[in-house]
Amino acid sequence: MITIALTKGRIEKDTVKILTQAGFDMRFMADKQRRLIFTSPDGAFRFILVKAPDVATYVEHGIADIGVVGKDVLIEHPGAYLEMLDLNIGVCKFAVASVPDYNPLDHKRKKIATKYPTVATAFFQAKNEDVEIISIQGSVEIAPVLGLTDAIVDIVETGNTLRENGLVEIEDIRRISARLIVNSASLKNNDKVMAFIDKIEEIVGKTE
Ligand code: PRP
Ligand code: MG
Repeated sequence: MITIALTKGRIEKDTVKILTQAGFDMRFMADKQRRLIFTSPDGAFRFILVKAPDVATYVEHGIADIGVVGKDVLIEHPGAYLEMLDLNIGVCKFAVASVPDYNPLDHKRKKIATKYPTVATAFFQAKNEDVEIISIQGSVEIAPVLGLTDAIVDIVETGNTLRENGLVEIEDIRRISARLIVNSASLKNNDKVMAFIDKIEEIVGKTE
């Protein structure tokens, strides 16, 4: 049996859509309710639904052979898995944003709120800018509004959260999308894993 870890939430539906297009009968996952483990009727696959960073953890430890998770998480939590495909779903970006009167060029040492301290630190270090990173778990957009920080580093998809909280985008950092990752031992030892990835690749196309 192949075990596949899926990120619960935003990219879940699009992932199931790709699997269906690739020829897998995913109807057994239609009425999920609160269950978190699903085995296909033929016993060939098992899907587990977990939080994004935990996808990488399950794949790294070989409990899941394959995982689907955002590049944001892979950058923030690098680990021992192989990134195989860009699924082109969950497309968004990392950006710096702040209140409209923010001046990135003044000489004050900036405070930056983020759920992605590794990404934010690397971004400002590359620009030789000394900033203080304040780790926040979510609703990061309110940090500069309330004066906790000068700006944020966060994901922007539609831009609605920025707009509705009065923030503007200051700078693009990079494109993000969901990726298919694989446990290296599974890839080496289980032909079915490579066959599965090949089928998905036929749908999403080759990753450069
Ligand atoms: C994410 C992200 C942004 C928002 C981007 O937050 O952190 O806040 O979505 O999407 P948008 O540009 O389409 O508005 P999420 O809803 O996951 O909540 P959280 O940050 O509180 O975890
Ligand atoms: Mg958010």
